[in-house]
Amino acid sequence: MIDKIKEYIGEANAFQTQNKEELEAFRIRFLGKKGILNDFFAAFKTVPNEQKKEFGQVVNLLKNTAEGKVKDIQDFLEGQEVSVGFYGDLSRPGEPLKIGSRHPISLVKNQIIDIFSTIGFNVSEGPEIEDDWHNFTALNLPEYHPARDMQDTFFIQTNPDILLRTHTSSVQVRYMENNKPPIRTISPGRVFRNEAVSSRSHCIFHQVEGLYIDKDVSFADLKQTLLYFTKEMFGKSKIRLRPSYFPFTEPSAEVDIYWGLKTETDYRITKGTGWLEIGGCGMVDPNVLKNCGINSDEFTGFAFGMGIERIAMLLYQIGDIRMFYENDVRFLEQFKSSF
Ligand code: PHE
Repeated sequence: MIDKIKEYIGEANAFQTQNKEELEAFRIRFLGKKGILNDFFAAFKTVPNEQKKEFGQVVNLLKNTAEGKVKDIQDFLEGQEVSVGFYGDLSRPGEPLKIGSRHPISLVKNQIIDIFSTIGFNVSEGPEIEDDWHNFTALNLPEYHPARDMQDTFFIQTNPDILLRTHTSSVQVRYMENNKPPIRTISPGRVFRNEAVSSRSHCIFHQVEGLYIDKDVSFADLKQTLLYFTKEMFGKSKIRLRPSYFPFTEPSAEVDIYWGLKTETDYRITKGTGWLEIGGCGMVDPNVLKNCGINSDEFTGFAFGMGIERIAMLLYQIGDIRMFYENDVRFLEQFKSSF
């Protein structure tokens, strides 16, 4: 047994490493609870009395050698750590920075703002929790008007006068009340409708509405403005205005753009017609101007509104509106390279 211990002493003496894990393995092997040394200590009582003294000495030597070795290497390794200084190894490769991305809704909204600001529209904002006057009544939608049902509304239960705005036309009312013509403003924002959630519609979505009021503003100006927008936004240069009805505009129209039928996808998104609806528009009803304190004999104007999600879905070929609100990074990360 004593020879065996001496062999271990030789081994411990010869041990060398620069590696913390290897050092720890060495420590456990020799000095650990179930290590070599403890085995020898346990064997002590089986050693014949006349050998006990020598046995004890070599075991102690092994213990000191192993402990000394561990301490020496530990000191050396720690010294090395200190010598690289506070900043660590300055030549090590950098850690990649995680770069966030803008939400696709923000990307599209900013693009729309850019396009309209080029032709003199500013941006206006208003509250998401609205009163009846700004969301409905001022917009030529008096109480009990059947067209109120066109937009299923979330009311605040305790007060029927307070609701979540169903469109950002409410912002236009506020803008008209507080500003004199000429008015050129777009109102982007979140709107709420009590609708069943599906891949095509959601109870929360975003709109941009536009308003232009000045002397002699005509339907031709409206059409030209929309055409300019579709060219800039989609690169498409054909639109059509289908007669429609909105209580706050007269005449009113639905805006379609000619998307084309070149690919399978074109067929799918236009349902085989080539045309795609992107929003509503019309000449502001004189009653609305009056309600907002603008002289309807002196001024005329046009308004239009469209959904930002729909536009984003078109541009990025997104098949399900719910993706915008799930905040799945695998979805959001795909917009990293966009501006
Ligand atoms: N406010 C209408 C809606 O949300 C859109 C619209 C705006 C229509 C302006 C005409 C003029 O459906």
